[in-house]
Amino acid sequence: MGFKQRGRLFLLLGFLISSASAQYGEVTHGRDVVTKVVRALCWYEFMDKIETNVNNFLRCDNQVQKIKTGYEGAPDVVFGGALASSLPQWFPNHVRECDIFLKAPKRQFKGGIKKTNYGFVIGEHFNQPYPFQSFAHCLVAEVDKTDGSTAMLALESRLKSERYWRETMFRRENEFRTLHNVSNLELDTLLTEDAQLYAEQLARTCSFKPSNPMGRDRLYDRQFTGENIAMNGGAFLRDEDSANVAVTGWYEENKNYDFATGASKGNLPVDQFTQSVWKSSKKVGYGMATNKKCPNGYTHYIVARYFPAGNLPNAYLENVFPAINSQ
Ligand SMILES: *[C@@H]1O[C@H](CO)[C@@H](O)[C@H](O)[C@H]1NC(C)=O
Repeated sequence: MGFKQRGRLFLLLGFLISSASAQYGEVTHGRDVVTKVVRALCWYEFMDKIETNVNNFLRCDNQVQKIKTGYEGAPDVVFGGALASSLPQWFPNHVRECDIFLKAPKRQFKGGIKKTNYGFVIGEHFNQPYPFQSFAHCLVAEVDKTDGSTAMLALESRLKSERYWRETMFRRENEFRTLHNVSNLELDTLLTEDAQLYAEQLARTCSFKPSNPMGRDRLYDRQFTGENIAMNGGAFLRDEDSANVAVTGWYEENKNYDFATGASKGNLPVDQFTQSVWKSSKKVGYGMATNKKCPNGYTHYIVARYFPAGNLPNAYLENVFPAINSQ
């Protein structure tokens, strides 16, 4: 399949071209939803169930990711066909009734949607059809039938938290920017995707380290992106709170920063603060992933990616300003 090799490039170009007009085309949106639902199911099947199997999760998740990026630009039926041929090995019971909807992406699903309101789990409105909507609904209905309410709750929280923590983080970071007299960041789809993939990598490996600043996944529009990362934990920490803690923690480095000289006081860390309120950074994407099997217990990994990157040498004074109310 020629689509696979070109996946990454396609993705980059696709988003650059489309980001100015609509955030999501209908097709991209449909594939996003179906990919999210399937990945949530990978997570549930291999990480949330009592017999955790990280390797199966990784294989399931990677395969779904590869299909998503590798078939960018391919017709819906081809994308659907690729999913249809790969999902039965992961979810034989769930997919059996549903793969007709993958092979015919616009076909309607009539089975019991209103009664149980699966749209709430997927976070969608029924009156806005998109390709593969029926497959997403059918899959969720099948999971409900075979695994019941525990599975539904797990899927729901995974899909839902994806929305709310991101909003929390975005709002909070822009509040800090306003306080420091710079314009708001804009959410960006490609940065979001890259940040999410890196957060998931950290969570899988329970490791906490910045990504290679000149790595391939740090490229955006032929320049490297900026990055902030955070880690926090606790079984009762909600994703929204975790997001809030992360972005506030970055901000707290402001007390180490000397606004008059543009340098750190006594070599204490400042770079996450300065990146966060860096004037010429305009776009951002956030990722979060958790793993309850890390050595210190349930751990959240949070990643933000910025474009253009901040923290350029000799540019601090013209990009980082004191809080408005401190002058
Ligand atoms: C905020 O920045 C603008 C320029 O963008 C400047 O004119 C204004 O004085 C600044 N406000 C404060 C309170 O520093």
